[in-house]
Amino acid sequence: MVKNFIILGPPGAGKGTQAVKIADSVGVQHLSTGDLLRDAVAKGTELGKKAKDFMNQGLLVPDEVILGMISDKLSGPIAFGWILDGFPRTLEQAEALSMLLKEKEIELDKVILIDVASKILVKRLTGRRVCANCGAIYNVVGMDKNKQKCDKCGGNLFTRDDDKEETVKRRLEVYIKQTAPVIDFYAKSNGLLISVDGSGSIDDITSEIMEGLS
Ligand code: AP5
Repeated sequence: MVKNFIILGPPGAGKGTQAVKIADSVGVQHLSTGDLLRDAVAKGTELGKKAKDFMNQGLLVPDEVILGMISDKLSGPIAFGWILDGFPRTLEQAEALSMLLKEKEIELDKVILIDVASKILVKRLTGRRVCANCGAIYNVVGMDKNKQKCDKCGGNLFTRDDDKEETVKRRLEVYIKQTAPVIDFYAKSNGLLISVDGSGSIDDITSEIMEGLS
């Protein structure tokens, strides 16, 4: 059966980490607007040129740019459903997504909210390392200090440009102002929103999410 999910939460809540695991175990496609934008920036496409400065400043990329990108993605053949990570992030994006899904007669099954306190998030994000080749996510906490290569594919690990402390703080402010209202938007639909505490271990959080989805 096709399943369609959204994963919401502040920067560093663990959306990417959990979305990959859920996509794997449920058999859906992981669609991360952040990954799509970073890829466009790295390739120097028109989309990347429009997005780059906003991303580096910790600001949201304008809605019309994001909506064009996501509507292209959801219009393509996605046979086994999806988990949207990093979208929607404004009320306008949430409303546009509802209209798009209605038009295409696609059902949204669950919205997963990962909730974590801000002080934990700054530490997580400034310590994040990402594989330049496969996108695997690591953290310096509990990692060998000299580690520079990905365990999965041997690619180089790097620090995201927007994971500097001052940019992280700006991203958290933007989240509270522009993205938190999206939670209320989905809370109004009966039984759609499930909320999990994102301060525990990665595996415990996955189990809690899977329980909420079943
Ligand atoms: P995006 O890439 O979506 O960034 P984000 O939402 O800020 O989220 P992050 O990717 O930083 O964090 P995450 O929750 O995925 O955490 P992760 O799993 O990596 O967006 C980047 C930018 O693109 C935006 O600022 C904006 O400019 C633009 N953009 C994207 N979408 C947009 C949209 N829809 N509209 C407008 N602009 C848009 O984990 C973080 C770290 O914590 C890792 O090191 C991980 O190993 C560790 N960790 C995870 N879980 C745990 C745990 N339980 N315990 C301990 N450590 C953990």
